[in-house]
Amino acid sequence: MPEKRDWRSPRGTHDILPENEALWRYVRDTIAHRASGFGYGRLETPIFEERDVFSKAIGEATDIIQKEMFEVRRAIEEKETGADRDNLILRPEGTAAVVRAYLEHGMHTWPQPVKLWYFGPMFRAERPQRGRYRQFWQGGLEILGDDDPTTDALLIYLFWQILGDLGIREGLIVDINSMGCPTCRPKYRKTLTAYYQPHQEKLCPACQNRLTKNPLRLLDCKEEACQNLKKDAPQLFDSICTACREHFRIVLESLDELGVVYNLKATLVRGFDYYTRTTFEIRAIDDTRSQNALGGGGRYDGLLEQFGGKATPAIGLAIGIERVILRLQDLNIAIPSLPAGDVFVIQLGERAKKACFNLVARLGDQGLSALCQPGKDSLKTQLRLADRAGVRFTLIIGQREALDETAILRNMVEATQETIMQSEIVEVLTERLRGVSRARREPTIIDTDEESFSESR
Ligand code: HAM
Repeated sequence: MPEKRDWRSPRGTHDILPENEALWRYVRDTIAHRASGFGYGRLETPIFEERDVFSKAIGEATDIIQKEMFEVRRAIEEKETGADRDNLILRPEGTAAVVRAYLEHGMHTWPQPVKLWYFGPMFRAERPQRGRYRQFWQGGLEILGDDDPTTDALLIYLFWQILGDLGIREGLIVDINSMGCPTCRPKYRKTLTAYYQPHQEKLCPACQNRLTKNPLRLLDCKEEACQNLKKDAPQLFDSICTACREHFRIVLESLDELGVVYNLKATLVRGFDYYTRTTFEIRAIDDTRSQNALGGGGRYDGLLEQFGGKATPAIGLAIGIERVILRLQDLNIAIPSLPAGDVFVIQLGERAKKACFNLVARLGDQGLSALCQPGKDSLKTQLRLADRAGVRFTLIIGQREALDETAILRNMVEATQETIMQSEIVEVLTERLRGVSRARREPTIIDTDEESFSESR
């Protein structure tokens, strides 16, 4: 006897079921619509990359690189040498991969700025909880080759618009900060280190380590002791240089103009080392828990140079798709249903089955979506399936219709029917579908049994 066990997807992952397809498609299409409307081209990078791509960009001392990477172990020993051998990880985010692709494909020769968007799964070995998973999806937008502060504001506004399109903007706020630049940040790092040093023994072990390696990460720590000390820590914004201050002033002024609701959050340093200047996250006003942002991003003006490219200012953001979906569900937002098939072809008997195949193929060739279930023989079952599929029309071919080369076209909404020649089906159906909504209709309880249906014929 095979062993009985409860099969489950790995911890922190989830299946996306057909019943949620409308929701996922709604979110993806809304992002895609805005992104392409604003001139972003779609870029899909591989799900795994060389470890260096991410460690170089995100920072060796960050939690993501230290604790949350999924390594890809090769199943087959390949006779291969080179940097990527045994050194691949599942991508924890998209920005570093976009930078790698920008350099690989010589995008600096394209008209600047280069605007790219992506949509796909990311992987981080975090402790799973509501809204935090080990495989999660992001929709990302990146602009490379533009340092104008109004670009920062417009990118945030694009996110704001997407949330508006989705119907979930009400009650959201943008937390925003400036991280300064390589000119002014070292000064802040010194001030911050000087503040924490006398309290060193109160810090969590990870932060004691961070204090020498990367003190900015202390502001990111979720441990209670470190959170308490953070309250009186010197603020980055007080140390930034005049150029960074001016950049930030224009970003905020532009956000005011655009009507985006924001909150200056001096401790917002985010979990990546690549950020410079503007950083931001969007969250619900009434939700101050950490790890609750619907999305976030910022500038990474130094990253391309760090990868050996030409100095190229850049900014981007990523939207957490599961978190957006949770909010849609919490707020009970009505989602447009998926389009249903155009027609369901019902067959009764061997000869009718052949005619049905022929019809389904012909309708398909003409761009109509025709469903059928040839494994089912009863009229009642097939009508139920048609009803559940949400189609507006069914075509019924019984033995008599197969002989006469006719079919019964049934309007499932009005419960009316007419007999038409099989040769005319494409024209008639196209005509009947004109101006009719393709949205899936709510199933009704079909009370038709074979006899009453025959009688009604
Ligand atoms: P991030 O803040 O790490 O930024 O992720 C962006 C969003 O992805 C988060 O605000 C959250 O909604 C979602 N997210 C992150 N981790 C998880 C998780 N474990 N489970 C569920 N959702 C999650 C980035 O990834 C940057 N690459 C954003 C960026 C683009 N910066 C510049 N360009």
